[in-house]
Amino acid sequence: MGKRIKNICCIGAGYVGGPTMAVIAHKCPSLNVNVIDISEERIKSWNNKNTDEIPIYEPGLSELIKKCRGKNLFFSNDIKKHIAEADMIFISVNTPTKTKGIGAGKASDLKWVESSARQIAMYANGFTIVVEKSTLPVKTAEVIKSILQAAQQSNKNKKNSATFSVLSNPEFLAEGTAINDLINPDRVLIGGEDEDSIEALSQIYNNWVPKEKILKTNIWSSELAKLTSNAFLAQRISSINSISALCEATGADIREVSRAIGTDSRIGSKFLESGPGFGGSCFKKDILNLVYLSEYFGLPEVASFWNEVVKINTWHQHRIAELITKKLFGTLSSKKIAILGFSFKSNTNDTRESAAIQICKDLMDEGAFLCIHDPKVSKVQIAKDLNCEPINNNVESTAIKDQDYSGIWQSAIDIKMALKNADAAVILTEWEEYSQINWFKFANTMRSPSWVFDSRSIINPKNVVDAGLNFWRVGDGVT
Ligand code: NAD
Ligand code: UDX
Repeated sequence: MGKRIKNICCIGAGYVGGPTMAVIAHKCPSLNVNVIDISEERIKSWNNKNTDEIPIYEPGLSELIKKCRGKNLFFSNDIKKHIAEADMIFISVNTPTKTKGIGAGKASDLKWVESSARQIAMYANGFTIVVEKSTLPVKTAEVIKSILQAAQQSNKNKKNSATFSVLSNPEFLAEGTAINDLINPDRVLIGGEDEDSIEALSQIYNNWVPKEKILKTNIWSSELAKLTSNAFLAQRISSINSISALCEATGADIREVSRAIGTDSRIGSKFLESGPGFGGSCFKKDILNLVYLSEYFGLPEVASFWNEVVKINTWHQHRIAELITKKLFGTLSSKKIAILGFSFKSNTNDTRESAAIQICKDLMDEGAFLCIHDPKVSKVQIAKDLNCEPINNNVESTAIKDQDYSGIWQSAIDIKMALKNADAAVILTEWEEYSQINWFKFANTMRSPSWVFDSRSIINPKNVVDAGLNFWRVGDGVT
């Protein structure tokens, strides 16, 4: 029989903390769920009266926030209070790749996890279950336990002194489908040693997840399974993207190849769509972490195997930018290119590691003038990612041809503005609205000979070719 849980606290109101806690609050009305963060701006934004302006765009999220916020779901900067009240605390903070020191460029930076553990050590009361929700290198639970044990020792004689149990419960949601993934998970993974704490956490999930989908493992298997799961998914994308280049060279078609191999039930059809290269905050970081761990444990062959997955991904992004340049007669200076889509996939406003960032930078290095459109990503975010401010929206693209606007960008308010006088359109995110573009309508607003580059295979080639435009799509050696 697990401990009865009444108050839950989640440290980190990000892409995982926010949606995960919204679903727990929705499915478990008897629980009090407090999401805390060090960022005042983020919390303010989660508390925005207009739920369409919460910090994360995720289908179905705004409705859940509307339903639960202020009832059993709260967003707050009062870290001390909510840690002190909690029976169970989820650590859901960022774990990016280290930028300096030992393991820079590969290992995860655990400073936010460590600071969360220290906050818990300082403010917790009584027996508290601490749940690792962030994706962490194997053995991180050891670090958390050491910090908590040290606090336990020094608080031994105090009234209400805290004791802890640490569990690993990695999150498998994908952005853009987070709410559905949380409500209908393939599995929930719980790693740990203390049976009662494992039971307490599974009872929460059991409010909506069938028992047979709740997998229990030892804590190290749970931590490693999360990294491995992301590595396997990313590996499939690098595999299919590498074959897309071969398709283009040989006259094969990657969509046909994907279908043919995906119908083998041992392979399966998911994650076989060739695109501009995987992005997102997880894949690259988690593989590099796996590479670092393999090196650390003296397994260089394992490290180099996984490192290739990231190398192919970067190569593929450069390859796309290069072929666009070649098709446009080898030079992009004084050419306008409409970039359609900047987020790393559709249905999210997240741009972390988006393939669009590298491809846009490469095109700007070649002297292109980019007019970038995305239905959900802000101009400010694009400027941050490209490390370059846009020019004023009022500058007409005809003026751009006359003056030297090489290597800069402009934010397009709509698709029409992006395509006007453009030499090419490049589709980088599979937003539904791009698959509906009427190319007949826009063809004569572009500068000919004009091109459409579809890195997501969302356009019917016939519609483009019949409109008199040149067409390229990833992995298509036929058209
Ligand atoms: P995020 O950057 O969106 O959010 C993390 C939040 O934690 C930030 O708002 C930050 O201010 C806050 N924070 C950091 N230190 C804190 C502290 N000491 N006290 C209070 N708040 C603190 O990150 P995310 O995308 O939600 O990812 C969180 C973790 O989940 C990462 O380990 C990531 O690898 C993992 N993960 C992410 C996804 C995803 O799709 N984004 C999916 C599965 C797992
Ligand atoms: C991923 C994992 O799927 C999820 O389980 C984990 O919890 C977090 O990391 P996420 O990064 O949000 O989720 O999105 P995902 O759908 O996995 O897409 C990642 C990248 O791969 C995107 O850029 C996407 O466009 C690309 N992708 C995905 C392809 O190029 N082809 C595919 O077939 C699938």
